[in-house]
Amino acid sequence: MIMIAPSILSADFTNLLKDIRDVEQANVNMLHIDVMDGHFVPNISIGIPVIKSIKKITELPLDIHLMIIKPERYIEDFINAGGNYITVHAEACLHLHRVVESIRKMGGKPSVALNPATPLSVLDYIINEIDMVLLMTVNPGFGGQSFINGMEKKIWELKNKIQKENPRVRLQVDGGINMENISDVVKAGADIIVAGSAIFESRNVKETIYKLRKKAEG
Ligand code: DX5
Ligand code: ZN
Repeated sequence: MIMIAPSILSADFTNLLKDIRDVEQANVNMLHIDVMDGHFVPNISIGIPVIKSIKKITELPLDIHLMIIKPERYIEDFINAGGNYITVHAEACLHLHRVVESIRKMGGKPSVALNPATPLSVLDYIINEIDMVLLMTVNPGFGGQSFINGMEKKIWELKNKIQKENPRVRLQVDGGINMENISDVVKAGADIIVAGSAIFESRNVKETIYKLRKKAEG
């Protein structure tokens, strides 16, 4: 079954509780939370206090996407705040294996994200240690950007790699996914779909999620 992970980056921050209740009612599988530091990406977003507050009001697993340099400085804090999946960017870690190991040791589910231009070979010696790969299909930093053409091929190549090397790894795709392209993204091999603007900027959040799921499941 395809999993849907709404990215709250596009939610209404003055009414986050309502937006979270809406996506819960649409049976989403996890909440995707984008953390940006203004260095790894040219934007600043949500941090630890907000995640702690969200944890108090929802049972949904929290999928923390860390777009920050040297994420090892904060792994413990994000796990203590309630993070379940902890995704670090390969490009942001000098010692990726050590960071992944520490996420696992502290009780999180380690996941590695790749920017659009980063080759899949960076996963070669880490794929057996992780639970998920997050493939960026836009350059990270902002919601509402367009899916980069040609990324279907990368999804497909990653799916093959996962099947060969560690089939337990989930393939998450993040950036520019909408009603028009979700079915292609799933056909290419995605297991978990992150969607921000397509969900929260639609008129009816619940209906949009149902429709996305329907298209995803064909
Ligand atoms: C981008 C973030 C995404 C973003 C997705 O840097 O990682 O999670 O919120 O937003 P949409 O679905 O609008 O591209
Ligand atoms: Zn994200």
